[in-house]
Amino acid sequence: MRYHVLTLFPDMIMQALGTSIIGKALEKESISLEAIDIREYTKNKHKKVDDTPYGGGAGMVMQAQPVYDAYKALEEKIGHRPRVIYLTPQGSVFHQKMAQEFAAEEDLVFLCGHYEGIDERVLEEIVTDYVSIGDYVLTGGELPAMVLIDAISRLVPGVLNNEESAQFESFHDNLLEYPQYSRPEEWMGKKVPSVLLSGHHANIDAWRREQSLIRTYERRPDLLEKAALTPKDQKFLDNLRNSTCK
Ligand code: ADE
Repeated sequence: MRYHVLTLFPDMIMQALGTSIIGKALEKESISLEAIDIREYTKNKHKKVDDTPYGGGAGMVMQAQPVYDAYKALEEKIGHRPRVIYLTPQGSVFHQKMAQEFAAEEDLVFLCGHYEGIDERVLEEIVTDYVSIGDYVLTGGELPAMVLIDAISRLVPGVLNNEESAQFESFHDNLLEYPQYSRPEEWMGKKVPSVLLSGHHANIDAWRREQSLIRTYERRPDLLEKAALTPKDQKFLDNLRNSTCK
C-alpha cells in the first residue's frame, strides 16, 4: 500500500504517522507514505494557495490550480489514475467495510482541504470518493486522513504482528469485542472471570461469544441487525431481551 497525502501541512502527517504501529509498518515497508505540499505547486509569486469565494461569504477557498498540479504530478509519477479520497463532512461516513475496500488498493491519495473548502471544479476533476469521519466539523482534512490511514493500514498484510488480531475484533461480524483481562487474577477486589482460567477452550469461546452479544446489545444494538447470528446466538439474545425487559 502506498499512501500519498495532498496537504498544506505535510509535517503534521509525517510526524503523527511516524510513530507506533504505523511508524513500524513504514520502517518494515509494509506501507509507504508521502505528504505532498500543495503550496509547492502554486504559480502565485507570493506562494498563495487560497482566495475569497465568488458570491461573497466568510473565509477563503483553496484554489484549483495548485491542487490540480500537485495531483497531476503525482499521477504522472505513479503512472495510473488512483483513487482520490477527499476528506469532507459532506462525504459518506467512514466504516470498517470501507477500510477493507480501500486496503485492496495499490495507491491511495488523500486530499486535505482547509479554510472553507476547495474550488469545486478541481474536486469534480480528480476526486473519486468523498469521505467523512463523522457528523462534526474539523479545521482540516489531515486528522480524518490519518484516521483512515490508521484503520486501513491495520488491514494490510504484514502491518500487525499477529495476523489474527485484525480478524477477531470489534466490528468483525458486526459484533463488539468481548472484554479482555490480564494479570493479576485479582485487582482492587475484582476477579478475572473463572472460565478464562479454566483452560477449557470450548467454554472460553462460548463465554466470549456471549459477552460479545451482551456488549453489542447494551452498547450498539443497531449493529445486531447486520450481525451474522447463529440460532444459538438468537436464543441467547431472546433470553437477554426477556430478562432486561422485566
Ligand atoms: N473535514 C472537516 N471535518 C471533517 C470530517 N468530519 N470528516 C472528514 N473531513 C473533514
